[in-house]
Amino acid sequence: MAKKYKTFTINEMTASLGAEVVGLDISRKLSKPALRELNQAWLEHQVLFFRDQSLTPEQHVTFTKNFGELQGPGYMPTLDGYPNVYVQEYPDLYKGIVSDVDWHIDASFMQKPLKGAVLYALDVPPTGGDTAWVNLYLAYELLSKPMQRLCSSLTAVHDNFHKNLTNVLDTYGAKGYEMARKATPPSEHPLVCKHPETGKKCLFYSELMVSHFKQLSVDENKVIKEFLVNHIKKPELYCRFKWENNSVAFWDNRCTAHKGIFDFGDHHRLMHRVAIQGETKPKR
Ligand code: SIN
Repeated sequence: MAKKYKTFTINEMTASLGAEVVGLDISRKLSKPALRELNQAWLEHQVLFFRDQSLTPEQHVTFTKNFGELQGPGYMPTLDGYPNVYVQEYPDLYKGIVSDVDWHIDASFMQKPLKGAVLYALDVPPTGGDTAWVNLYLAYELLSKPMQRLCSSLTAVHDNFHKNLTNVLDTYGAKGYEMARKATPPSEHPLVCKHPETGKKCLFYSELMVSHFKQLSVDENKVIKEFLVNHIKKPELYCRFKWENNSVAFWDNRCTAHKGIFDFGDHHRLMHRVAIQGETKPKR
């Protein structure tokens, strides 16, 4: 049973994760009690959704700043004059190096992956283009005890170029790859991590980024990776959000993975994303 809040109403999306927040205009300065409750609801539901929000880039930035330092520019195009507002525009982004096709934890190749992000829909396609988030606590809890023990003993290598190496080489050549490699070297994280605020264990698995587990042989890696990706994409573990213009999703990147569903053909889809820098290195 979801906790009740005084400053807004919560409508759970599924009993696994995700909730819509009703009765809050996030373009305005929020009171301390509202912010405190919002942070609690965020930790409880892992991804919060808001409808009918009218946000300028400034208001988007101001809202996100309530939850931490913002991610700077460097990984995607940003809005002119707003170095923290990433522009995710399709189909244009397909022409570059699109990386959000597989399940992923944002920037998990960094020593301190992002804490969270606020995604705002400006122009959604007439159909398709949902986003899904998976509950990585539940992904851990639903494993058998022996499997939990095995996973708890593994260290994952998160590599930004794991899935798109050919694409990077084709687009930027060897020199470009060398520079990009220096800027974003891989990071190692335990497969089972404790959330820094809730203390709960989660299965910190990013299909897009995990190249291998250090302790396993090539054959063993193949089997365990296949198992993990099939495990996290079980429908019982995720919620799927249908965007409308002016919808907002605010997710905790420390205990969820997500996937944009690119089933809208050549239709236009424009999102702005402001993300919160990572504060801690994932720990067992
Ligand atoms: C992302 O993966 O950051 C974006 C997901 C989406 O656009 O649906």
